[in-house]
Amino acid sequence: MLADLVADGDVVILSGAGLSTESGIPDYRGETGRKRRAEPMTYQAFAGSAAARQRYWARSHLGWRHIARAAPNDGHRAVAGLQERGLVAGIITQNVDGLQQAAGAHDVIELHGSLDRVMCLGCGRRTPRQALDRRLRAANPGWSAEVGAINPDGDAVLADDQIDSFQVVDCTDCGGLLKPDVIFFGENVPRPRVEECFTLTERAGTLLVLGSSLTVLSGYRFVRHAAKLGVAVAIVNQGVTRGHDHALVALDAPLGPTLTALLASLDGASTPR
Ligand SMILES: NC(=O)c1ccc[n+]([C@@H]2O[C@H](COP(=O)([O-])OP(=O)(O)OC[C@H]3O[C@@H](n4cnc5c(N)ncnc54)[C@H](O)[C@@H]3O)[C@@H](O)[C@H]2O)c1
Ligand SMILES: [Zn+2]
Repeated sequence: MLADLVADGDVVILSGAGLSTESGIPDYRGETGRKRRAEPMTYQAFAGSAAARQRYWARSHLGWRHIARAAPNDGHRAVAGLQERGLVAGIITQNVDGLQQAAGAHDVIELHGSLDRVMCLGCGRRTPRQALDRRLRAANPGWSAEVGAINPDGDAVLADDQIDSFQVVDCTDCGGLLKPDVIFFGENVPRPRVEECFTLTERAGTLLVLGSSLTVLSGYRFVRHAAKLGVAVAIVNQGVTRGHDHALVALDAPLGPTLTALLASLDGASTPR
């Protein structure tokens, strides 16, 4: 049972977009993601074309506000709660929204980076997104746009003429191209970050997958690694995932209520009579 595995401790959590849908951020492959209208930006398109960057930053300028306004949900709070109870050996997240940390979780490995930071492709300097937001507002006085759907990457669907009039800004230090500090499709996660996650997986009592279809190899490889080493894999996810064949326990259930109940049952079990 899930509660028994978690009660044994040394849980390494691998979370995905499904953990944040209850906060109003759509996922890619679940119910909320099916309505998605645009393809995600690839690194190659972003780095190779000024038009692609203009399109990305215009859409993201509006979409980011939606993500920045989102509040943690019961699932995020339960992750922090498990950590607070000393049951967690590590948290690996594929999410770029920072909501587990906002709920109080610490030492979260952001496998795919964070929308909260911006990186310069020229000098490598990382700066807060908030600062770029201010610069983009200043560079685009009077620019406003009708927001269509919000995509999981934190971008909004905009009309072409709204994109064409958007001014992009460059690094204040070196004039280099600015990119959100997230791993785009077609880009590799830095090796040290991957190695850290493999090491965590090797030491785990249980690898607990929360809200990820595991379609992306970037997260799935840790499940495969755990299974190969005989580390128990547990999954809480609505719908089937690529990791199900490796799972000792799999619950098809909504994360908020399920994790809240899990915490309550752990607390009940440890309360002295
Ligand atoms: N919030 C974010 O930061 C965010 C959002 C979308 C995508 N992404 C990025 O896109 C990639 C998507 O891969 P992924 O595997 O994380 O997401 P995914 O969209 O492939 O899978 C999400 C899974 O969660 C399930 N799900 C949705 N809501 C749920 C809920 N309330 N309870 C239980 N299950 C629920 C869905 O049915 C689906 O199977 C990642 O690499 C990530 O970096 C991030
Ligand atoms: Zn720079």
